[in-house]
Amino acid sequence: MVGVAGLAVTMLHAGLHTLAAAAAPQAAAPGSQAPASTMTPGQRADSTPKGQLKNPYADTDAAVVQAGQQMYMSYACSGCHGGTGGGGMCPPLTNDVWVYGGDDDTLFRLVTYGSQDLQSKGYSRTGQENVVGAMPAMGQIVKTDDDLWRILAFVRANYHGSPDCKFGCGAK
Ligand code: HEC
Repeated sequence: MVGVAGLAVTMLHAGLHTLAAAAAPQAAAPGSQAPASTMTPGQRADSTPKGQLKNPYADTDAAVVQAGQQMYMSYACSGCHGGTGGGGMCPPLTNDVWVYGGDDDTLFRLVTYGSQDLQSKGYSRTGQENVVGAMPAMGQIVKTDDDLWRILAFVRANYHGSPDCKFGCGAK
């Protein structure tokens, strides 16, 4: 679908984002409109080498976490995972168990691609939750990578498991 021109634009966009990020990290005020340098979650995941996606926001940033919570509700994550991510019809997001890994990179890609596409990209289920099902691809629904990072900051802020396992057991 993306022609050469489209690809060039995407790459230019990626370059601009890197420049903008270097010049003014976290230029956008938390909770405000997304910065102009954002991409869709899918563009961001596709253009970043595996393992290198990192949340620019801290889960101790109250304004970010609050904005993330609102989006978590409005994008209907809560319908499956419960209002604070404690689970419901779907696995909890707040316990020690991470189905594919608990690092930022894996969580960003899981939510963006959904669990089926993620597995087709070489990830496998390593953890087992009580509830097993498919996580839908939300990369076309969540508008920007920035929105998704805020949502994930909210998810992290609600983590209640062992500190050792917050980013995947043994990982930091
Ligand atoms: C239709 C129900 C549904 C919706 C909506 C949904 N999820 Fe999920 N989610 C799941 C299921 C089912 C899994 C487990 C996938 C598996 O086991 O392969 C999951 C897994 C996850 C995980 C990994 C949990 C773990 O323990 O490793 C995260 C993080 C997550 N979802 C975040 C989100 C976010 C953020 C949203 C909203 C943008 C969202 N989900 C929307 C059903 C849903």
